[in-house]
Amino acid sequence: MTKRRLLITSGLPYANGAIHLGHMVETIQTDIFARAMRMCGHEALYMCADDTHGTPIEISATKRGITPEQLIAEAAASHRKDFEGFNIGFTHYYTTNSPENKALAYDIFDKLQKAGHIREEVVKQLYSETMQRFLPDRYVKGICPKCGAADQYGDCCESCKAHYDALDLVDPKCVLDGSTPVVRESHHLFLNLSDLEAELRAFANSDALSDEVRNFVTTWLDEGLQAWNISRDKPYFGFEIPGYPEKYFYVWMDAPIGYIATTKSWCDQNGRSLDTYWRDPSTEIWHFIGKDIIYFHTLFWPAMLKVAGYAMPHRVHAHGFLTVNGTKMSKSRGTFILASKYLEILPAAFLRFYFANKLSTGVDDIDLNIEDFYFRVRSGLVDNLANLHNRSFTFAEGKLGGKLDDSRYDDACRTLIAFARQQMAEIVKSYETLDTSAVVRLICEIGNKANLFYQEQAPWTYLKGEQADPEKARAIVTACAEVVRIIAIAIKPIVPDFSEKIFAQLGLEDQNLCDLEKGLNASNTIRNVEKTYLRPERETFDLLTAVEPAASSEASPDAPKTAEIERRPLKEAISYDVFEKLDIRVGKILSAEKVKKSNKLVCTQVEIGHPDGPVQIVAGIAKHYDPEQLVGRTVLVLTNLEPRTLFGLESRGMILAASDSEGLELPTVSQRAPGAQVK
Ligand code: 2FM
Ligand code: ZN
Repeated sequence: MTKRRLLITSGLPYANGAIHLGHMVETIQTDIFARAMRMCGHEALYMCADDTHGTPIEISATKRGITPEQLIAEAAASHRKDFEGFNIGFTHYYTTNSPENKALAYDIFDKLQKAGHIREEVVKQLYSETMQRFLPDRYVKGICPKCGAADQYGDCCESCKAHYDALDLVDPKCVLDGSTPVVRESHHLFLNLSDLEAELRAFANSDALSDEVRNFVTTWLDEGLQAWNISRDKPYFGFEIPGYPEKYFYVWMDAPIGYIATTKSWCDQNGRSLDTYWRDPSTEIWHFIGKDIIYFHTLFWPAMLKVAGYAMPHRVHAHGFLTVNGTKMSKSRGTFILASKYLEILPAAFLRFYFANKLSTGVDDIDLNIEDFYFRVRSGLVDNLANLHNRSFTFAEGKLGGKLDDSRYDDACRTLIAFARQQMAEIVKSYETLDTSAVVRLICEIGNKANLFYQEQAPWTYLKGEQADPEKARAIVTACAEVVRIIAIAIKPIVPDFSEKIFAQLGLEDQNLCDLEKGLNASNTIRNVEKTYLRPERETFDLLTAVEPAASSEASPDAPKTAEIERRPLKEAISYDVFEKLDIRVGKILSAEKVKKSNKLVCTQVEIGHPDGPVQIVAGIAKHYDPEQLVGRTVLVLTNLEPRTLFGLESRGMILAASDSEGLELPTVSQRAPGAQVK
């Protein structure tokens, strides 16, 4: 395997706000990728920083009576704490307000100027005389010049989606003090992007972009590139432009340069050369960004890199936005979840595992559905992987003194281990393509197989009695421990704390892909076994979206409508005898698939504790649940309903669901086994 060198970045969080779970989608995805590359033996640096300049910082600081420097220092401390809480393994986390960034921004500007790509122009802008400042588009509101909608920002209309110049807004008002701005002229500096069209087209057609992202960029290129205003007037918090007193670089000019400046700061501290990372084409530069900032990273940024003689990005990966329970994050619904709040409620590993589960290669939005979150963490991480670790390690330590031995492996042990090792090739490939959803699936397959193996091999039966053979039991748990070790290597990028605990209990140093074949043997002992994760309570997950009383009473345009209680008379009364006849049980859905040609029906196999084994039930819930969300779920089943045939499929029973005009929900039983009677 050739060792690669990767320089990986995620979008620099803006210093004017706290880290929320939307940010965490990106940092978790990036961190998983960086850790995966390190696990495979590559050099992978993960650089990030706070994005600290711009009007909002300057205005917030003034409002609070502190300096912008104080404000960004507070933000840096809080951002670092949140990222640390989520186990994000930055190589270096820095700030764009640094001497390195200033020097690099000056140098890049100088090169752009010398190459003739900067031009000056006089621009008319809205100016607040009361605040004595030019107003950025988001600081003015007025009537949309296209459709007449009131209360629209200076750049585009939320009602008709039109984009326009703030000067065209009818009856504009400053959002800060309600005053009416005037029109004023000012000199500005523009980067002539169209000079670089050929280079940018070549970049857009390179492997750096997915087809999806390339389509956006090609459309912009075809529409014609506009010159980009890179200057702002004072008052502004940022770098003053050399030779242009009282003019500052626009925050979006120096923000991406922060990627290089952060690397520079790290290089200086570690005796490395910046050129190795930013001027050597053999280094792969990977940018992870949200889909809203594709324009900056695929046009402005490569233009600057090209002219200044830096290497072009190897890959710009854009991910989708986070929704919570199917809708945009909203403070009044409690779904705008801060990272710090999450960390007070649940372990970071659960969110890392869940996001890994949901993320794959594209720009589709990803949804954090609280029910699904609980379900996947419980069934995948806790009841499958953590359970395999806990049952086999506890048995090994408690009953066999922790000593392992592979000398009595039989075919079943060897087959299981071979399967786990084989999965690794596919797992590595999936990490490489950012398909962490596939990674989780492949790892859970190993866990499922090993749990079944443990159950079937029943090592406890070899401890005493007629078939007493403790060495056989030892071989069985050694095989399980070996699989747990392989899982720990494979899942380390996703939940590093899980893997650390396992390596420690096995008395091993950190393990990586290169250790895959070094199987456990008689020289290994399991000690100090401790559970990796405790089984979570369903109710705990609901605390994530619990609305603080103060916030819920606030009148807000996106407040949820109060659930209306629909009152209707009861059906005819039934006798206790009739009720006694209903055989309602807890069922576990073992498999589920959509019924062809029906958009409502799912065909499920459900374990209900019937003497003949699982039963088939065709349920009308396909519009509300994907088959994959159903597998493994525990539900309530009316089991003795007379059989029926639907779309040619026999259905023996009914899965009970709660439904009203808003939707449908399966009640969940978390602690009772399949077959338990409901009465
Ligand atoms: O969109 C944002 O939040 C920006 N602060 C991201 C900057 S990324 C990079 F270019 F610095
Ligand atoms: Zn409009």
